[in-house]
Amino acid sequence: MTKDLLKLLDLTGEDIDKILNTADQLKYNQKHGIPHDYLKGKTLAMIFEKNSTRTRVSFETGMFQLGGHALFLSGKESQIGRGEPVEDTARVLERYCDGIMIRTFAQKEVEELAKYARIPIINGLTDFCHPCQVLADLMTIREHKAILKGLKLCYIGDGNNMANSLIVGGLKCGMEVSVACPEGYDPDPQVLEFAKSDPNFRFSLVRTPQEAAVGADAVFTDVWASMGQEEERAVRAKAFEGYQVNEELMALTNPGCMVQHCLPAHRGEEITAEVFEAHAQEIFDEAENRLHAQKAVMYLLMKGNKE
Ligand code: CP
Ligand code: NVA
Repeated sequence: MTKDLLKLLDLTGEDIDKILNTADQLKYNQKHGIPHDYLKGKTLAMIFEKNSTRTRVSFETGMFQLGGHALFLSGKESQIGRGEPVEDTARVLERYCDGIMIRTFAQKEVEELAKYARIPIINGLTDFCHPCQVLADLMTIREHKAILKGLKLCYIGDGNNMANSLIVGGLKCGMEVSVACPEGYDPDPQVLEFAKSDPNFRFSLVRTPQEAAVGADAVFTDVWASMGQEEERAVRAKAFEGYQVNEELMALTNPGCMVQHCLPAHRGEEITAEVFEAHAQEIFDEAENRLHAQKAVMYLLMKGNKE
């Protein structure tokens, strides 16, 4: 494994497999009351420069279940918000803590933190990617379908952080990945280059949700306007018209097709209330698996630290 979890592009398919297997084991332990306080005495600093419900609660609870401690640092209320350089924050926090989770805007900030801190850095979402979410997503599909290899993953909507991580994670796990985005809202060029680089990868970027959904085994979508894009909401609502996961679209997918959403969801925009409720069990399994997948990441990255 790498020192950090900055983006899925840095991991191999085997690394992802190892994280998912560890997550399954930790979930089993938690459900059966088997102690797993592998990070006893360790502290995770959690830096948030954007809002969160799931990421904050699952990391904090996960660290507690692993026998450690998590502390919340709001970007605004710490010296980060007053411009203290990332390299100084990194070199201070490594003196107190055993790992750092960060949710912020620029991917560069996370990469810089990792460069200057000798402790593991975990990306809790940037504008570029959301690796922890996609590890939970892959875990959930594998739980429901038993395998990942050969299944078709489809993503409808904005070529955002979720799209970027799903493309990389899905392809690295041997899935076929099909993405439908309106022109001007494509995934990151670095991700598209990766997706087209391997002749074994089955990837397509199309312009209509219907083309992407045909034969899908798992359909994903995400909000039309991400955090930090609030002012673009009206323009985006127009651009994404029709990029909706609804019953007509689901009729094109394979029988038993799953629906996944990282949440929060906007019913009536990227997904209808009917489809959301029909797949609520899978969607909330996905939310739960944030806990288990992140416990696996923390365990694998932090267990040997300072020993
Ligand atoms: N899916 C997700 O990351 O949720 P939060 O923004 O609530 O953390
Ligand atoms: N694309 C969304 C994901 C939220 C979990 C955002 O960045 O706001």
